[in-house]
Amino acid sequence: MSVKRSSIHGQWSSRWAFILAATGSAVGLGNIWRFPYLTGENGGGAFVLVYLLCVVLVGIPIMMAEILLGRRGRQSPINTIRTIAAEEGLSRHWHLLGWMGVIAGFIILSYYSVIAGWTLAYIFRTGTGLFVDADAVYSKQIFTELISDPEKLLAWHTIFILMTIVIVSRGVKSGLEQAVKFLMPALFILLLVMVGYAMSTEKFMEGITYLFVPDFERLAEKNFFADIFLPALGQAFFSLSIGMGAIMIYGSYLSQKSSITFNCFTIAIADTTVAILAGIAIFPIVFTYGLEPAGGPGLIFVSLPIAFGQMPFGTFFGTLFFILLMFAAWTSAISLLEPAVTWLVENRNMTRVKATALAGLIAWSLGLVTVLSFNHWAFSFTFAGVMKENGLFDIFDILTSNILLPLGGLLLAIFTSWLMSKSSTVEELGLGDSRAYHAWRFAVRYIAPFGVIMIFLNAIGFFKLLGFN
Ligand code: PFF
Repeated sequence: MSVKRSSIHGQWSSRWAFILAATGSAVGLGNIWRFPYLTGENGGGAFVLVYLLCVVLVGIPIMMAEILLGRRGRQSPINTIRTIAAEEGLSRHWHLLGWMGVIAGFIILSYYSVIAGWTLAYIFRTGTGLFVDADAVYSKQIFTELISDPEKLLAWHTIFILMTIVIVSRGVKSGLEQAVKFLMPALFILLLVMVGYAMSTEKFMEGITYLFVPDFERLAEKNFFADIFLPALGQAFFSLSIGMGAIMIYGSYLSQKSSITFNCFTIAIADTTVAILAGIAIFPIVFTYGLEPAGGPGLIFVSLPIAFGQMPFGTFFGTLFFILLMFAAWTSAISLLEPAVTWLVENRNMTRVKATALAGLIAWSLGLVTVLSFNHWAFSFTFAGVMKENGLFDIFDILTSNILLPLGGLLLAIFTSWLMSKSSTVEELGLGDSRAYHAWRFAVRYIAPFGVIMIFLNAIGFFKLLGFN
């Protein structure tokens, strides 16, 4: 059955508009803030290797599945899944999967915005030359001062949510294209400058080895599923913006003619390159200045300013860096809000402006939990062999990246490859009944579900029950 729907929310002006917007969604704090600190917490090279495998074997196929669904349904993720399930003769309960994505989106945005607030704060801290000749102790002190002040965190969080609301309420297409077209390449170039600086530090090779050479001895001490695979897979979902409908809604604005496969590879390559560059820029600095790789969420905010304080034109580069990071976070935050907003417009008959204000308010309120997690409500616990110190923020992060997104991805994979008719997916992917199509189908049918199910079985202690470590 050939489906020709159009979205009431509009369409991208070209294939490149989609690629830019989706890359804008994918590239964000996940690449530059989260990837390095998780790599540091999880021991370096082995984590990076497993992460890359997760991107290729699980991430890209699931991203293709999401875009395929979005473009076929052309509505909010909840209604897209509902419509396709009805057309394919499947249970109407599948739309709950869309709801799970919306909930995950709210939780992620709630803390994402607080961290994006840190980048806003750091624009001014670097801009005023605060870090000139700073050492590690001083840099740490500045960071601790910021996160222990809930009022400051709340103010920056509020500003960032408002910025997000403004863009989403105008419709994600206007402005986004232009912003991403110039800012992404600028961020990329600036990361290269940072890599250049990292190369001049004493411990450059140590940083590179840490990042790219798996330490098998250390690996042997760890539980592979819980300590490496789970956080790596979670990071792949988080970084590629998959498993919650963000890429699906962007796919719903994509023209019928555009190649889903080409688009996905382009987005994933751009996303991964930025993360790896961030790693190369950061770890040599971490080692040179005697910082702890497992320093947690503060890692880049403590390490990079030291480098800016040392390098020529550091105040300029530092300020520019945090401005660009703020833009990268902004283009990601927009995509976190979009699925909920489109649903409110479709089902509650709200104007886009009202819908965005309401959704933004929900995310903002939830963000108060994260604001307090770094000070008054802070508590620590151990997860996947790592000491987490920021209570509910860490729980939100683990719940979304390591549970909700992979679970969403698993269900999406099952839905598209086991339940939808083959003819529908052949038609939508536009690869014909080719080898490429079969490779995709194999990945979403077997590899992605296998990976996610192994992790969940491990989490509930299944392998221990069988007598494995
Ligand atoms: N991919 C974004 C990043 O790496 O910063 C974060 C994100 C956006 C996660 C959208 C999930 C999502 F749906």
